[in-house]
Amino acid sequence: MKQRKILVLNGPNLNLLGTREPEIYGHDTLGDISARLEARGAELGVEVESRQTNHEGVLIDWLHEARREDVHAVLLNAGAYTHTSIALLDAIKATQLRVIEVHLSNPETREPFRHLSYVGIAAVDCVKGLGAQSYMIALERAAAL
Ligand code: DQA
Repeated sequence: MKQRKILVLNGPNLNLLGTREPEIYGHDTLGDISARLEARGAELGVEVESRQTNHEGVLIDWLHEARREDVHAVLLNAGAYTHTSIALLDAIKATQLRVIEVHLSNPETREPFRHLSYVGIAAVDCVKGLGAQSYMIALERAAAL
């Protein structure tokens, strides 16, 4: 039987994890996190593929592609696009993918402009504020969907 696939999509500035405001986002690089997700995915019997882009439209293209490929679920850390992108919200709705919103920090306890999440309007779940562990918990939840 073909393994279920879980796609991990990371948005702008997350390629700088490790050196980017470590007091907020921690010291793990995105490569560290992706490797851990892949290893845990293997234990859970799911294929995990991680990607990162700094471009809003690329995230949307990847969601459309994920629909065509029938991925099991998507972990989405859209970075700052979380708080600005109606286009991402529409893409999640249009594709009807099961998206779990992920954040290293807890945006709701930060500046007011981070309190609104367009992604959260359409996401089935959200894990935030636990650093790299947010991704690991989101993976467990995605595999259990
Ligand atoms: C973030 C939170 C966002 O507000 C911010 O713009 C990011 C990272 C997080 O993972 O904590 O880029 O999504």
